[in-house]
Amino acid sequence: MDSRIAVGLMPLSASCADSGLQVAGVSVTDLVAEHGTPLIVYDEAHLRARCADVKHAFPDGASYAAKAFLCRSMARLVHDEGLGIDVASGGELAIALAAGVPAAALTVHGNNKSRAEIEQALVAGVSRIVIDSWDDLTRLSDLAAASATTQRVALRVNPDVAAATHRSIMTGHGASKFGVAIGGGQAATLAARVRTTPYLELTGIHVHTGSQISDLSALAGSIGAAAAVARECQVAELIVGGGLAVAYVEGDEAPGVAEWGEVAHAAARASGFVGSILAEPGRTIAAAAAITVYTIGAVKHVGNNSIMLAVDGGISDNPRPALYGSRYQPLLVRHPLLPSAVDPAVYSVVGKNCESSDTFASDVALSAEPRVGDLVFLPVTGAYTYAMSSNYNGLTRPAVIMVGSGTSSLIVRREGIDDLLRSDVFALDRAAQH
Ligand code: LLP
Repeated sequence: MDSRIAVGLMPLSASCADSGLQVAGVSVTDLVAEHGTPLIVYDEAHLRARCADVKHAFPDGASYAAKAFLCRSMARLVHDEGLGIDVASGGELAIALAAGVPAAALTVHGNNKSRAEIEQALVAGVSRIVIDSWDDLTRLSDLAAASATTQRVALRVNPDVAAATHRSIMTGHGASKFGVAIGGGQAATLAARVRTTPYLELTGIHVHTGSQISDLSALAGSIGAAAAVARECQVAELIVGGGLAVAYVEGDEAPGVAEWGEVAHAAARASGFVGSILAEPGRTIAAAAAITVYTIGAVKHVGNNSIMLAVDGGISDNPRPALYGSRYQPLLVRHPLLPSAVDPAVYSVVGKNCESSDTFASDVALSAEPRVGDLVFLPVTGAYTYAMSSNYNGLTRPAVIMVGSGTSSLIVRREGIDDLLRSDVFALDRAAQH
């Protein structure tokens, strides 16, 4: 096998120059010289292309699931591309609004929305609120009546479909905490109640089966079941959630967005649903759009034939390997090609957090011999990485850059020690004053 660029894993605008990896014509080494590591680099053209793909596959409309990655620039970008935004908390709602995205483009989710979050959504005038339970309905109907505001709502149903994916990211199985069971007529009963609730207008049925799902027939099963409820309830919209898998390492098979759209439409129509079919992908749009760049700080020989490369980030900026056993394909910035068959698979890439689950990759090969000070990057880190980052071990969150048409913009600044101390209230300081 010849050395080659990992096309399916890289941002669309990635290329390999003499100086190493470039994104949209910008040298990643130069970006690191300016901003340091760990550094997350999004390819703007990739994000826009994925939004266009989604719009094409779901012509009735789509929303970006903000939980995958959200900041104001991201919110504005997806809105500019004609997508709505699905938010899952008052915080996400506030960020989208702060970006100037109109409330009419926003859908509010959550299996335990607080009164404050519901009020925030009602005052803003969001497009729809997705009801997840009887208690959610009670709170929402009280607050809508109190504000004398008619709110469009959808009902999230649970199709009892266990799609093959990591168990932590299955959401459509019977034991899931999300949605109201279709079985036993529970969803239909709740929908009927919504219909008779003043100030609420039932416009849709929502289903989300889980995430990182490559078996489209499982998605078709849950979409078909939700579509039957939507038909019975005579609502105008069926929201089919997100869930499409992406490839994380060479050899991963992942269906395309167009195929997902075809399967979703066919499943909904087969159940006799004639209204609009909307989607809300997160990973599909954001995952492969970004890479995370780290600096190798230690090269440690372990046992007979294993070499650990310790980088300057870890599960604090990407907990996915620890949470889901996710795999990544590390590559070197100065030689960003896939390894060849003769390159020895002796490397592990570990972080600097204090536990052994802090491992990004094990037994992998690299296309050149790594040294201390080398930049190594993980492709496909644009979804659920920064969004799930933490300050574990007092590590600060990375900077996030967006690169487009030969220029780069800082879209989230690197955290500093000040950020760690910002919410720390030093109560024992009082004792020292006495
Ligand atoms: N809609 C709803 C209601 C959702 O809960 C989600 C994701 C999506 C849409 C978008 O799903 P996607 O297209 O991204 O699969 N932290 C996990 C993923 C959790 C997904 C949660 N819900 C991970 O890192 O894999």
